Amino acid sequence: MRALVPLLSLFLLGGQAQHGSDWTYSEGALDEAHWPEHYPACGGQRQSPINLQRTKVRYNPALKGLKLTGYETQEGEFPMVNNGHTVQISLPSTMRMTAADGTVYIAQQMHFHWGGVSSKIRGSEHTVDGIRHVIEIHVVHYNSKYKSYEIAQDAPDGLAVLAAFVEVKDYPENTYYSSFISHLANIKYPGRRTTLTGLDIRDMLPKNLQHYYSYHGSLTTPPCTENVHWFVLVDFVKLSRTQVWKLENSLLDHHNKTIQNDYRRTQPLNHRVVESNFPNQ
Ligand SMILES: *[C@@H]1O[C@H](CO)[C@@H](O)[C@H](O)[C@H]1NC(C)=O
Repeated sequence: MRALVPLLSLFLLGGQAQHGSDWTYSEGALDEAHWPEHYPACGGQRQSPINLQRTKVRYNPALKGLKLTGYETQEGEFPMVNNGHTVQISLPSTMRMTAADGTVYIAQQMHFHWGGVSSKIRGSEHTVDGIRHVIEIHVVHYNSKYKSYEIAQDAPDGLAVLAAFVEVKDYPENTYYSSFISHLANIKYPGRRTTLTGLDIRDMLPKNLQHYYSYHGSLTTPPCTENVHWFVLVDFVKLSRTQVWKLENSLLDHHNKTIQNDYRRTQPLNHRVVESNFPNQ
């Protein structure tokens, strides 16, 4: 009997770890319609992403711009992983974002959501006036009043995500993305890791960092915790068609299927108000 208890807990732990990677967007028993059954917060009233309806956004002239520090060139090595849902880059804690209310957030990781099932299918999570963009970039931060991301992820004021959209037209290669995109081939299979040498997140973001939409929502993947202060930038990142194609076609999920359309459908706004720090044109 004695030996059974640790064995059993090992089994349960293993089951949980397995479970964490089992959810999907559209196929299988735990597709997004079923997330709330295993992750109750996913059925909450303050979920993300949402449609940003510009006529309903409230312009708040008192909202200052975001202050980003340590986003420029960083020396060192930065892990990049295929987690079976997206590609994720680990960020150094020297990267910080100060929100308009003075809260300082520490960067944790950056990942992407994209489409790609056909060349016309776009994959941003937030939509603007119902329009879905090609790719959405998420830079995930945690509130610096907490010691670590692990603690902050369960706190009501724990997280902030800086989001940006990618636009694709006949743009030339965006060389700020070249190293990142060439490393995708190293992490084709889920669980694979590679390393980026040097990083400049500032250059991977839109030129204009001043104008944003802001609201209170959730993580867009299980467990969908409703503790995310969202900052969605108005300006776009510009990538070439080839770069977008590579992001859409390089990675495989746990069933060895190409990771595509890894975005959650938009969620009801309910009684929330989206603010902007620029007047609606
Ligand atoms: C995925 O493909 C790799 C390489 O061919 C193979 O080792 C692995 O078992 C496959 N996984 C699944 C779930 O089919």
